[in-house]
Amino acid sequence: MMDSVTTIRKAELCDVPAIFDMINHYALERVLLPRSLTDLYESVREFTVAGTDQRAVIGCGALKFYNQDLAEIRSLCVNPQSQGRGVGRRVMEGLLAEAERHKVKTLFALTQTPEFFSRCGFHEAKRERFPMKVWRDCLRCDRYFRCSEVAVWRELTRPAVEEAQQEAAAVTA
Ligand SMILES: CC(C)(COP(=O)(O)OP(=O)(O)OC[C@H]1O[C@@H](n2cnc3c(N)ncnc32)[C@H](O)[C@@H]1OP(=O)(O)O)[C@@H](O)C(=O)NCCC(=O)NCCS
Repeated sequence: MMDSVTTIRKAELCDVPAIFDMINHYALERVLLPRSLTDLYESVREFTVAGTDQRAVIGCGALKFYNQDLAEIRSLCVNPQSQGRGVGRRVMEGLLAEAERHKVKTLFALTQTPEFFSRCGFHEAKRERFPMKVWRDCLRCDRYFRCSEVAVWRELTRPAVEEAQQEAAAVTA
């Protein structure tokens, strides 16, 4: 029987083993970069997860801030058995909402699945457009000269609350 997604929520410390297993399943297939348990415990607050009513974690993704305006979507994945049912999109929506709350202007990712990102409103770009990422991670990667990842980015719309405030101001002006 398939699990039904009940919640998109921020990850908790106890979710780390499931996140670790999911990411490293795809790392073995060289689809995602591997993450160590230490790394995940340190960065668990960056993660959003999709959880079932049985409290199993079936999807995850992380939002990493670079500066006031820029953030990266990292380690976004869904259990193989749960793919194709909108779980990835829902995790992405959770990350987008979080980025909007922080008033991030631009989101980017490096991915081997640009089609999924395109369905979520991202456009392709040269990875050199994100030099901080290149300096921070890419130059240390053994696949630097044969990287099959595509850089994708999207601007964020103004947060709904900001729009509502502006509309309210216009009405009272
Ligand atoms: C990519 C991934 C996260 C998508 O998750 P998912 O739950 O299967 O995706 P969804 O069901 O939410 O699909 C959302 C949309 O993206 C499209 N899509 C998803 N994966 C796709 C793929 N591999 N190729 C083309 N389109 C894809 C879906 O068709 C859907 O399109 P729609 O808007 O027409 O309905 C999942 O396949 C995965 O974990 N892949 C391995 C890890 C990975 O590549 N992560 C992304 C890089 S960080």
